[in-house]
Amino acid sequence: MNSHAGPVSRRTLLAGAAALTAVSLTRCESISGAAPAFSTRLPETALNADGLTLEAAERPLSLPGNVTSVPAWIYGDTPFPVLRARAGERARIRLVNRLSEHTTIHWHGLRIPNAMDGVPYVTQLPVLPGEEFSYDFVPPDPGLFFFHPHCNTAEQFGRGLAGILIVDAPDEPVFDDDVLCVLKDWRVGADGGFLPFLTVEGAGRAGTFGDLRTTNLLVAPEIDVPAGANIRLRIVNLDPTRNGEIAIEGAEAFVIAIDGNAVTPFPLASWRLGPAMRVELAVRTAQDGARMRLLDYFAPQPVPLATLVARGTARHTGVFAPLRLRADHLPEPDIANATLREMTLTASAVATAYPDIAPIILPDGRSINLLDSLCVSPQTLWAIDGQTWPEQGHQNTPPPILRFARGETAYIEFFNGSRFPHPMHLHGHTFKVLSANTLPRPVHWADTVLVMPDERVRIAFVADNPGNWMLHCHIIEHQDTGMMAWFEVA
Ligand code: C2O
Ligand code: CU
Repeated sequence: MNSHAGPVSRRTLLAGAAALTAVSLTRCESISGAAPAFSTRLPETALNADGLTLEAAERPLSLPGNVTSVPAWIYGDTPFPVLRARAGERARIRLVNRLSEHTTIHWHGLRIPNAMDGVPYVTQLPVLPGEEFSYDFVPPDPGLFFFHPHCNTAEQFGRGLAGILIVDAPDEPVFDDDVLCVLKDWRVGADGGFLPFLTVEGAGRAGTFGDLRTTNLLVAPEIDVPAGANIRLRIVNLDPTRNGEIAIEGAEAFVIAIDGNAVTPFPLASWRLGPAMRVELAVRTAQDGARMRLLDYFAPQPVPLATLVARGTARHTGVFAPLRLRADHLPEPDIANATLREMTLTASAVATAYPDIAPIILPDGRSINLLDSLCVSPQTLWAIDGQTWPEQGHQNTPPPILRFARGETAYIEFFNGSRFPHPMHLHGHTFKVLSANTLPRPVHWADTVLVMPDERVRIAFVADNPGNWMLHCHIIEHQDTGMMAWFEVA
């Protein structure tokens, strides 16, 4: 089992590998023979006019190969419910909080009204234990999204509180199969319990990695797919920390969507998938019995994430031309008339004081300070443009990092002045990634973009969704230790 991939220091890597050897052996032994608790596909629920209820609760979860069950926090009965909605149709989700602490649901990547964005104290009051909140919105764009809490996120997300939201277009192209792979590591110790979700050492570096890597809650599952078929493979990086370099061995594949946004299909060599990022592929599967491997190359040795096993008579012969998804009608930014604003991503050793105190105005007009929010960690290690999201106990909320007039083009350059990559995400808008000077990427629409060390990445979007929107790194330990800010569209 590969443990730590990516830009961890050599020292961490060696220490981690040594510590893990014993654990890995135990796991491998118990994996064989143990019946998997889940099928290789996550169950899906269609969102209809009646809406549905998600109960956030602690439930015992037996992870593959683990000696005991872990106290997972999940929505519903099994982790990672997959909700399926239709673009342009109302979605109503009632969150019931059965946890022992407050929570909310943030709908990652959806351009929905601010009041539905699920950020405690910024867009809504936190949902206290025993309380409930109804999310009610119309997803405007088709795509592959996910949802998660936005409070004590390292722990809530780390314990499994997350789900997937697939939004179909009215004329969604039909593939021979539609396979979802949800990647998530678990921080599980040798005794079977959870390990700390946030460590100061991890938070100050690339993040704290989980050593039990799963795809759809299984270790490298074998997923049956039709042979010689044109399938859609949707990959979600639901890990709070790990970057992947995703590739397929044994089949021809094209990238057809990034963060749920259609792209002109291009052949997949490999795709760097940071935390929170999604990539969708059109794959022509191999012949009956053949195995195609989904691999992560962002590791000393490629890590198998899943194996697709082709079954049955070939559906298609001849040249593979991937189906194209319909591009969203996203508003085109007006770069020529926009002001470029640089945002520097750096480490910050000390908490920043905020003399210029601005209360946050809730959508219903009330104003509130972040004082009572427990959404911040005691550590402030990271900063955006020199501003650190205040640590717990700070009396006041920081001012917005940026302000846009409604309809104005936001034109931003992220500069990463640190030694670690930062998958930068912002709420309420889909942005165009215009240029990047380290990782080659086509111009594309996204809601999360990886900014590599020393890299400059330019994005732009029309700030057309009024409200207070978060902007943060999606390595959750970075987010929880200061690399978060908000911008205002008014
Ligand atoms: Cu998944 Cu604030 O985001
Ligand atoms: Cu980061």
